[in-house]
Amino acid sequence: MRRPILAANWKMNKSAGEAQAFAEKLLPAIADASSLDVVIAPPFTALDRLGRALGGSAVELAAQNVNAEPAGAHTGEISVSMLLEFGCRYGIVGHSERRAIYGETNGQVAAKAKALQAAGIRPIVCVGETLEERDGAETLSVVGRQLDESLVGVAGKELVIAYEPVWAIGTGRVATPDIAQQVHAFVRERLGTLYGEVADSIRIQYGGSVKPDNAAELMAQSDIDGALVGGASLESDSFAQLVSIVARAVQA
Ligand code: PGA
Repeated sequence: MRRPILAANWKMNKSAGEAQAFAEKLLPAIADASSLDVVIAPPFTALDRLGRALGGSAVELAAQNVNAEPAGAHTGEISVSMLLEFGCRYGIVGHSERRAIYGETNGQVAAKAKALQAAGIRPIVCVGETLEERDGAETLSVVGRQLDESLVGVAGKELVIAYEPVWAIGTGRVATPDIAQQVHAFVRERLGTLYGEVADSIRIQYGGSVKPDNAAELMAQSDIDGALVGGASLESDSFAQLVSIVARAVQA
């Protein structure tokens, strides 16, 4: 059985002080978090304070991005070893905002995922189609290509995939559980082609307008192993609710 993983993607939100205050409110509210992995990806500038505030708890830190090079002339970038220093256990790569706004390619995503794995940090590789691609019935071909090209040289062990339809991110327009399950099943099948039996142990998160009122239905789908949450992860109350919804889904 796959252990569910709920991850908060704070994007460019929260100062270090706000991150600390969030942790202080969250921790007492998530006593029942032992059946899942809970992860928070704050801005780089809040990793230190948030890590200290979470110290000793089971909540783990993630990076929202990383540079694949070990060091050098890359103004504005952060390396894997810098993330390790702050105790990051996960790294989000290939988020659709990075792909769309910063032109990140599948090749770059693969290089980042490999660099993370080499340091023992688990990559969360994001894939997902735009509305235009969905309307053009290209969802599976787009997602399939993203997987094939973003996972070149990436090991299946400890890999996490996030399926995030771009049209559902930050729009309030969540994929129906059926639509999400259909793509998740396709993703798992493709992972089977790439990794064989290991595919059964790879966790696939759904992302895109996940909220406390739609999470249970999504989590009930057989190939949905958790969620990557933006907006609803910014308030400790709604994130704590999501933790218990995912925990209950595991027990169901
Ligand atoms: P959202 O963002 O939950 O605000 O839609 C999800 C994401 O971008 O990871």
